[in-house]
Amino acid sequence: MNKVRVLTGITTTGTPHLGNYVGAIRPAIEASHDSNVIPFYFLADYHAIIKCHDPDRVRRSSLEIAATWLALGLDTGNALFYRQSDIPEILELAWILTCVTAKGLMNRAHAYKAAVAENEERNENDPDKGITMGLFNYPILMAADILMFNAHRVPVGKDQIQHLEMARDIAGRFNHIFGEHFVLPEVVVGENTATLAGLDGRKMSKSYNNTIPLFLPEKQFRKMINKIKTNSLEPGEAKDPETCTLFGIYRAFASDEEAAILRDQYRAGIAWGEVKQILFEYLNRLLREPRERYQELVGNPSFIDAKLREGAAKAREFSVPLLREVREAVGISKIGAFR
Ligand code: TRP
Repeated sequence: MNKVRVLTGITTTGTPHLGNYVGAIRPAIEASHDSNVIPFYFLADYHAIIKCHDPDRVRRSSLEIAATWLALGLDTGNALFYRQSDIPEILELAWILTCVTAKGLMNRAHAYKAAVAENEERNENDPDKGITMGLFNYPILMAADILMFNAHRVPVGKDQIQHLEMARDIAGRFNHIFGEHFVLPEVVVGENTATLAGLDGRKMSKSYNNTIPLFLPEKQFRKMINKIKTNSLEPGEAKDPETCTLFGIYRAFASDEEAAILRDQYRAGIAWGEVKQILFEYLNRLLREPRERYQELVGNPSFIDAKLREGAAKAREFSVPLLREVREAVGISKIGAFR
């Protein structure tokens, strides 16, 4: 049986937080144990340098993300876990795809359009002010990441749906001109995966600066939990769990039974301080062991490096032959070898 190839990338610009964990990392690690799929998980470091021109941050983030996934039990026996930058074929493919991608298609990309809209709002003379070709070409690089491995399914957040449509568009265009070489990938948007609210009650996101890092040392972790915003209801007053950030986070980790118990306590008027204590203890118990493994891994970058290189070697068993085929298809092959 041909295994389903599931692929996703993580941009290396930040520190993994609780929202990343429940939204992306946890389901991906679960899937890594499924022997019916081949998971391709990679650190999208060439994507990182589009938005982030701080080399130490990119380096630090790559280390933290890799250590996080390994500490949480990613099955690297089944999953291919690698750095995008260790697969040179991806960049070659990106250029070849660039040559069949309509500029008009890229003009319609949300991220590019948002940047232009911002310039227009500020009454800049040049609507493209400060916009790099990296940002403009972002969807093509992402298409190359996916098509390079003929991935069938791509789990991403809602904000990435358009990029998947573009990848399909680009694949279809290439196939139409040069013959069937690429699978049209399907987007998988995690409907059942939770999205968490952050410290201020808005969606937990790096761009809102309201995240709770996954592997903070215990003391700092407690402090963070205590910083989560609540309303000003007093102890003894009934509270609504469903609109509460604390409960939302607890819910994403606890069992149905455990959640039901806390729900009752809300109705009975539990104090906010007490909820925070319960949440902290619950998460801390869950994260204690992986946090220790994480600390060990972060202190041992050469081990991580070796793991990633191993993943890249496995990934290149797919990318090298496919790129050879694609180069051949477009006419970049042995001189004089006509078909
Ligand atoms: N652009 C994705 C994000 O910001 C990360 C990414 C890069 C990706 N290449 C990918 C995701 C390929 C899925 C497939 O979340």
